[in-house]
Amino acid sequence: MLKSVLVTGANGQLGSELQQLAPLHPKLSFTFVTRTELDLSDSNAINIWFTDKHFDVIINCAAYTAVDKAETEVDLANAINGTAVATLATIAKAQHSSLIHISTDYVFAGQHYRP
Ligand SMILES: NC(=O)c1ccc[n+]([C@@H]2O[C@H](COP(=O)([O-])OP(=O)(O)OC[C@H]3O[C@@H](n4cnc5c(N)ncnc54)[C@H](OP(=O)(O)O)[C@@H]3O)[C@@H](O)[C@H]2O)c1
Repeated sequence: MLKSVLVTGANGQLGSELQQLAPLHPKLSFTFVTRTELDLSDSNAINIWFTDKHFDVIINCAAYTAVDKAETEVDLANAINGTAVATLATIAKAQHSSLIHISTDYVFAGQHYRP
């Protein structure tokens, strides 16, 4: 049986790469969603969106990536990069799905030699 994979943030850099790679993986059934279909700034809307949907794997490529602007749009940045990820994790756990969330090296100064 095909494994179903949801990719959020489909139009971003990472999401676009996954769209290109998807045809190379015929055993996976991909669903790509953009902000228009699934707005991660609203956790209530995320929960509602998932009520009639299930995926084996959720790959979260959506993110607030305007790092400098995040200093002024703190609430929005936290909603997308924090709260929404927790909401997706809670949904994934409840639905027995796997959640893959892409992190960033932007929070590290690059001076450590261990993870
Ligand atoms: N690109 C890299 O080299 C790289 C390296 C390390 C880690 N990462 C991580 O990979 C993830 C994706 O990065 P990226 O480079 O692909 O970023 P990106 O090009 O800025 O894409 C981010 C995507 O998130 C979407 N998004 C923003 N707000 C949203 C919302 N409220 N609801 C739903 N979608 C929303 C954007 O949609 P719109 O198109 O509508 O704005 C965009 O498609 C990030 O967590 C980043 O830290 C990326």
